[in-house]
Amino acid sequence: MVGVRNLLVGTWLLPAAYGTFSTSAAGSRSAASSTISSAYSQFTIPSDSDSGAHLIANIDDPEAVDAQSVCPGYRASNVRESSRGLTATLKLAGKPCNVYGTDVDSLDLSIEYLAHDRLNVQIVPTYLDSSNSSWFVLDEHVVPRPSSDKHASERRSDLEITWSNKPSFHFKVTRKATGDAIFDTTGSVLVFENQFVEFVTSLPRDYNLYGIGEHIEQLRILNNRTVTLYASDIGDPIDLNLYGTHPFYLDTRYYEVDHRGHHTLVAADNADQSKDYVSYSHGVFFRNAHGQEIIMQPEGLTWRTLGGSIDLTFYSGPTQVEVTKNYQLSTIGLPALQQYFTFGYHQCRWGYHNWTELEHVVSNFEKFEIPLETIWNDIDYMHGYRDFDNDQHRYPYSEGEEFLDKLHSSGRHYVPIIDAAIYIPNPDNVSDAYDTYTRGHKDDVFLKNPDGSEYIGAVWPGYTVFPDWHNPKTNDFWANEIVTWHKKVAIDGIWIDMNEVSSFCVGSCGSKNLSMNPAHPPFALPGEPGNVIYDYPEGFELSNKTEAAAASSAASSQAAAAATGDSGPSSTTPYLRTTPTAGVRNINHPPYVINHDQDGHDLAVHAVSPNATHYDGVQEYDVHNLFGHQILNATYHGLLKVDSNKRPFIIGRSTFAGSGKWAGHWGGDNASKWAYMFFSIPQALSFSLFGIPMFGVDTCGFNGNTDEELCNRWMQLSAFFPFYRNHNTLSAIPQEPYVWDSVAKATKSAMQIRYAILPYFYTLFHEAHTEGTTVMRALAWEFPTDPSLAAVDTQFLLGSALMIIPVLAPQATSVKGVFPGLKHGEVWYDWYSHEAVDAKPGVNTTIPAPLGHIPVFVRGGSVLPMQEPALTTKEARATPWSLLVALGGHGAASGQLYLDDGESNVPDETLNVEFTVERSALSVKAKGRWEEVNPLDRVTVLGVETRPGVVRFGGEVVSAEHVQWNSTSRVLSVGGLQKLTGKGAFSGNWTLKW
Ligand code: NOJ
Repeated sequence: MVGVRNLLVGTWLLPAAYGTFSTSAAGSRSAASSTISSAYSQFTIPSDSDSGAHLIANIDDPEAVDAQSVCPGYRASNVRESSRGLTATLKLAGKPCNVYGTDVDSLDLSIEYLAHDRLNVQIVPTYLDSSNSSWFVLDEHVVPRPSSDKHASERRSDLEITWSNKPSFHFKVTRKATGDAIFDTTGSVLVFENQFVEFVTSLPRDYNLYGIGEHIEQLRILNNRTVTLYASDIGDPIDLNLYGTHPFYLDTRYYEVDHRGHHTLVAADNADQSKDYVSYSHGVFFRNAHGQEIIMQPEGLTWRTLGGSIDLTFYSGPTQVEVTKNYQLSTIGLPALQQYFTFGYHQCRWGYHNWTELEHVVSNFEKFEIPLETIWNDIDYMHGYRDFDNDQHRYPYSEGEEFLDKLHSSGRHYVPIIDAAIYIPNPDNVSDAYDTYTRGHKDDVFLKNPDGSEYIGAVWPGYTVFPDWHNPKTNDFWANEIVTWHKKVAIDGIWIDMNEVSSFCVGSCGSKNLSMNPAHPPFALPGEPGNVIYDYPEGFELSNKTEAAAASSAASSQAAAAATGDSGPSSTTPYLRTTPTAGVRNINHPPYVINHDQDGHDLAVHAVSPNATHYDGVQEYDVHNLFGHQILNATYHGLLKVDSNKRPFIIGRSTFAGSGKWAGHWGGDNASKWAYMFFSIPQALSFSLFGIPMFGVDTCGFNGNTDEELCNRWMQLSAFFPFYRNHNTLSAIPQEPYVWDSVAKATKSAMQIRYAILPYFYTLFHEAHTEGTTVMRALAWEFPTDPSLAAVDTQFLLGSALMIIPVLAPQATSVKGVFPGLKHGEVWYDWYSHEAVDAKPGVNTTIPAPLGHIPVFVRGGSVLPMQEPALTTKEARATPWSLLVALGGHGAASGQLYLDDGESNVPDETLNVEFTVERSALSVKAKGRWEEVNPLDRVTVLGVETRPGVVRFGGEVVSAEHVQWNSTSRVLSVGGLQKLTGKGAFSGNWTLKW
């Protein structure tokens, strides 16, 4: 293992600020030893201040009552029908069950055909109190309702909805084309209480459902688990709730159709490879922002939410593409257009200690000739972890200006982190003043306690306050902080973190403790005593025996030493079961709590607690899942205040349906494990469905130490994700791609491809931004008639033209993959050899993939516009063009290219180029005013079966020395085109004939 660790400055050292800290009288789980020298001693927030005192009754409680067995349901009356749907009143059909709250006795039902492919069912309490405090109904300004088309009617709809009162109100949504119920509440009761809403739908056995996030799981959701939605600051647990909330799913059904057009549903996993099938997909969006739980059962699902109303939209598709477009265009909004540079490579870590270290990292990339576009800063740059405030010893503004000038003139960029919480100064210390807090406090823009005092939680800096997005002044406050700070540090984007919103203690724990600020978080930071990182990827013990043995024994000693102290409620702690009080909500301990993954399932743990109160009186309980969404909105508009004409670049952690309009997302705190490299694929594909295509994960892994082999494979895989960033936790071993020779080499080879196809990436993003298409795609979405692809998530497509089949396991030298569509004449070409792949339909083919090689395939029928790889996107953008034409079965192909200046919000000049290939001729038609000055260098055509005669570009014959045809690989290469396209590759329309 050849390393260049000695080139790094201080990466191994802990920041000086993490000095010795004392534990409080209440005792701390993170008892620190005094082995690290320190300048001052710091109060540590007691660890038990972040524990749930109880194990709150949830789905695992054996005594939990099944609402379905005790609740009366509703009966519809006062029904008014029209061609667009109906309205009715739903009255409780029996004695209230009040099982987990107070039953609402009267509800307003409205069913509306919104468009031929969109249907909505809304159920809201009839008597909403004016303060909206008993049953919180979502604000349309924050989460818009789906739009409606004025020509919509039941007759024109793909779907049909029927209802009945026998034995109680239920409804059924049927797809007219198949006669199949896509949503059917028959056999269940509707439960609608002030803290518990439940509806149940049946689903066909062996259903294929995707989405409902955010979670870390395989792509197709299992039919025997509970999916929880509650924004949680937690390091990527598998199958549990995570940072974001996306109550949306895609349901794909495969059918055999007989000669009379009769559809028979088939289980995807049992489908017969020799037969042909059709598929129909639909989408379901539940517009509700409360904590939710979806219980997936083998033949149905139960959807529970802790409040709000029912607002369900059905999108009829019938393909995934149509569902996803419809969901974005009509309901949540289209994803933000990204600047061109954002598709370059991003390097980050927690633990870059000063500008000098950043400079070293940048110069190492130059030295090793690895492309680097953006260098990122974690919280290390902050003065005491305060937003918008640099540490003047390590990250002084003056030195930063020099660094950033140099960085920008090399064509590179800088993106720092901003946390959601704002430090609140110690009132006993006059020198602790903090302007951001002072301004926010003056404008009164922070969240409150029920008694009107500021809600004071805790995050990295110690005790903190939190912006209240319900206050109309808060967005201006936030924008002003961004603008003011931008004058000192010329940032190119913002990384929004901790916006679940996370808080390291229960309740307003800082209210009486401000004199202890700045305080240390209630746990040891990575690398501090008790939290030294000894973890390595699976298989490390095979490749690095001695190191692995030493690490494992050190880890055991650390674990043994830590085995004392409070660890929150255990499985034997008695359940806390709260009995509902008529008309009163218990928001701190709701009678039913979802299967939330923090201590005791307690909603108040490790987050701003449910009783924090907003400007308009709304309690955090009702809007917790929207904090992340609203800070992304505020940040987007803040960056527009810095430069109204530049597309804001934001990567955020907590998202909600529609956050893609403003920001991209990274997968959060994954671990340096092979498992997480795999999970990055289904996670990315789910975010494609959620309208957030700008997605990537912490490449090489965040928590734990990575190793050479994992980092090698991962740097190659992430090169095909839209957001390509390597990020690492504090004190873990360095993992920049130049740390190991083999990783540097593998990275460069994958980046050669990425940087060459940047125009393709950009075009895909422009299409996603204008039409709602996806960038990373599951095989099942591109090949909807093949049921065998329904669960494939170990390989994926980038747009429709490229397929990536990565190695996802240690010590492998080959990988198995499927080549979809072969039965119907699809052709796949190997990216590297340009030869057509010799594979059989439906057969898992073994593909050689030694370390350092990532299998990439080009789909026949595509034209890929490319430029030359370079060290920055700016340099790449200034190179000559080439076109890769991969001929499909009948010698046809097509493709597109979109260009503009790469950064303007509303570019004045754009260019759309259409590529069409038929009968041995490529014709190029360009439309628009963007003047593309770079010439065309070469056209490479894959799958040319016979030696071409004369090759003509426009009317001119291309001289034979520039034309090559390989009779084995069947590749035609036409070079020497620069002279013929001196005014720019797409300055006019042209045809290349062979
Ligand atoms: C949590 C984020 O998820 C992680 O990426 C970051 O490094 C730490 N916060 C420190 O800021």
